Amino acid sequence: MHAIYDELGGSDGVRTAVTVMYHRIVADPELAPWFEGVDTERLKSHQRAFLAAAFGGPQVFTGRSVGEAHADMRITDAAFDRVVQSLMTALADLGVANEAVLTVGARLEDMRGDIVTA
Ligand code: HEM
Repeated sequence: MHAIYDELGGSDGVRTAVTVMYHRIVADPELAPWFEGVDTERLKSHQRAFLAAAFGGPQVFTGRSVGEAHADMRITDAAFDRVVQSLMTALADLGVANEAVLTVGARLEDMRGDIVTA
């Protein structure tokens, strides 16, 4: 995944990209039912977990497994798709090579079975 870090201009670039993408997720009316009322610290924690899952690197999860964290949320396949698409679109917009974007998508795709319960 180092290639993606480099393409985005290192860790600052990655952080900026993910922050932009994450604001889009939180502002997406179709995803609002899940993110409404979640406090800022939790959102930041979620963003870091999402980033670690997408790009690899240190696991910053707070102790709960990803499956446990989403167990009661009834997340749909469509919502999962939108979240993953947001990140892939943001990366593509920033000029990340298509192959690297697809690699990130595949890493997140591996988690679908743990997260989608609806
Ligand atoms: C695709 C990869 C995803 C990863 C790696 C991920 C990771 C995580 C983790 C680790 C937590 C627990 C955070 C904590 O305990 O502080 C969490 C919570 C949460 N996730 Fe995800 N998530 C993903 C996708 C999604 C999707 C698709 C949705 C909704 C459509 C979603 C909505 C939430 C919400 C609402 C919380 C709860 C925040 C709270 O504790 O109040 N996540 N996620």
